[in-house]
Amino acid sequence: MKNIAVFASGSGSNFQAIIDAVETGELEAEITLLVCDKPGVKAIERAEKHGIPSFVFSPKTYVDKEAFETEILEKLNDAEVDFIALAGYMRLIGPTLLNEFEGKMVNIHPSLLPEFPGKDAIGQALEAGVNETGVTVHYVDNGMDTGPIIEQVAVPVYEDDTQNHVRKRIHEVEHELYPKVLQKLLHPAEVNSN
Ligand code: GRF
Repeated sequence: MKNIAVFASGSGSNFQAIIDAVETGELEAEITLLVCDKPGVKAIERAEKHGIPSFVFSPKTYVDKEAFETEILEKLNDAEVDFIALAGYMRLIGPTLLNEFEGKMVNIHPSLLPEFPGKDAIGQALEAGVNETGVTVHYVDNGMDTGPIIEQVAVPVYEDDTQNHVRKRIHEVEHELYPKVLQKLLHPAEVNSN
């Protein structure tokens, strides 16, 4: 069984989708750690409710990124983590973590990358007036949402859509897609033999 860590900074609805998929057996993995850089957010409650250990920290109490990533790395090692899923973690990953986990760390982003990387991807899509945006799961590299793309799903944007409408549609797709992609990445041989 592979051990995964989820990194989140907010509500953690994607984290919840991953928890649910593990509990139903759709995703064969154990979530051995939540890493969260925002004390008080809902993702932490979700971890508690499901008995998942969490490492919650405030970046501003560390001298720099290297210092908190060094501590994250220790926690990941203690939790024997094999693979990392970023799920709304609002921070660039630095070399301390990338050197250990490149190729074993993925992110979900609410656009069809390379369109609309970075913050407020849904706002960017509405601003651009596109009639289609989407969801991308990609490997994490040292750029902002620039790593190799694994899977993408398009989501329509309708004329009178607000950010909330698009966000809801995107979240529905994300919650289905992310656990499936994680299952494929963690169990590639089973997928190929089907
Ligand atoms: C998701 O839309 C994800 O694509 C982006 O951040 C959002 C996190 O939402 N990276 P949640 O915290 O999982 O609800």
